Amino acid sequence: MGKPRVLSGIQPTGELHLGNYLGAIRNWVEIQQAYDSFLFMADLHAITVPHDPKTLAANTYKVAALYLACGIDLNCATIFVQSHVSAHSELTWLFMCLTPLNWLEAMVQFKEKAIRQGENVGAGLLNYPVLQAADILLYEPDKVPVGEDQKQHLELTRDIADRLNFQFGSEGNPVLKVPEPMIRKEGARVMSLTDGTKKMSKSDPSDLSRINLLDPPDVIAKKIKRCKTDPMRGLEFDNPERPECNNLLTLYSILANKTKDAVAEECREMGWGQFKPLFTEATIAALGPIQDRYHEIMANKDYLESVLRQGREQAEAIANPTLHKVKAALGYSMPL
Ligand code: TRP
Repeated sequence: MGKPRVLSGIQPTGELHLGNYLGAIRNWVEIQQAYDSFLFMADLHAITVPHDPKTLAANTYKVAALYLACGIDLNCATIFVQSHVSAHSELTWLFMCLTPLNWLEAMVQFKEKAIRQGENVGAGLLNYPVLQAADILLYEPDKVPVGEDQKQHLELTRDIADRLNFQFGSEGNPVLKVPEPMIRKEGARVMSLTDGTKKMSKSDPSDLSRINLLDPPDVIAKKIKRCKTDPMRGLEFDNPERPECNNLLTLYSILANKTKDAVAEECREMGWGQFKPLFTEATIAALGPIQDRYHEIMANKDYLESVLRQGREQAEAIANPTLHKVKAALGYSMPL
């Protein structure tokens, strides 16, 4: 009792990269002592775009192992798989029937992804944020730590909760708790290595655009060698003409664990040829221990399965009563 609750998740599609780590997982680790954390792998979201059934489960396990390897502590956190807790799917249906179509059509991420999918836009892509609302509201969290890009989905989540409370709750006795977003401050927004104005993303077709958490040292070195820079001498933060420079310096300061001021001072007179080896070394040193722990965890499948089995139990203990509360509010009744 007592501790406020947070909930967040990542889709197990593609490799997790520095953006996922510095922008999400590292923040979860930082706040985990102060919160009761529910962290999951959004494998139901993963099939809203074409997917390969042969790699779905393996990717989900990999992400779980990475959560642990990055320092998520099972004494404060529950790690679980979205598809293991069937309440997510069931609440999604109930929410879909309450959600106006035009709310979903207004979602920026839907519009962007729909353009990318062309002719073949599945209804899952449209309903993606309804599933996300179910993910969140089932656990009645106080806060939902996410990146800036998820802000609109969180507003939709709050709107769905408000609407349900308004239509089916009574004054002073809401059906669902309305959570607060916890949007990360700047600095944690990791940009692409090949374009400093774009977010580092799993869906970028070029693997050179991102450093994956499991990239071996030679691959990290190669990606940094090839990453986009500019022809100016002297490196600096916050020059809008030099987005790559700002991104690489920011990454360096976080990975080398140095303050922004210290890095500004250290790099002021440097050229890229001098900076890149330093940055490479800092990245390899920061990711090495995570990779070692990851490989240890993956070598012990029984352990990982036991974590997810326990995670499922702990998640269901919260999610199922919430689902029943919503069903009761909507008028369903089932003899036990
Ligand atoms: N849509 C989120 C993303 O792409 C992932 C996600 C799914 C999520 N369900 C969630 C995040 C619930 C927070 C809470 O990053």
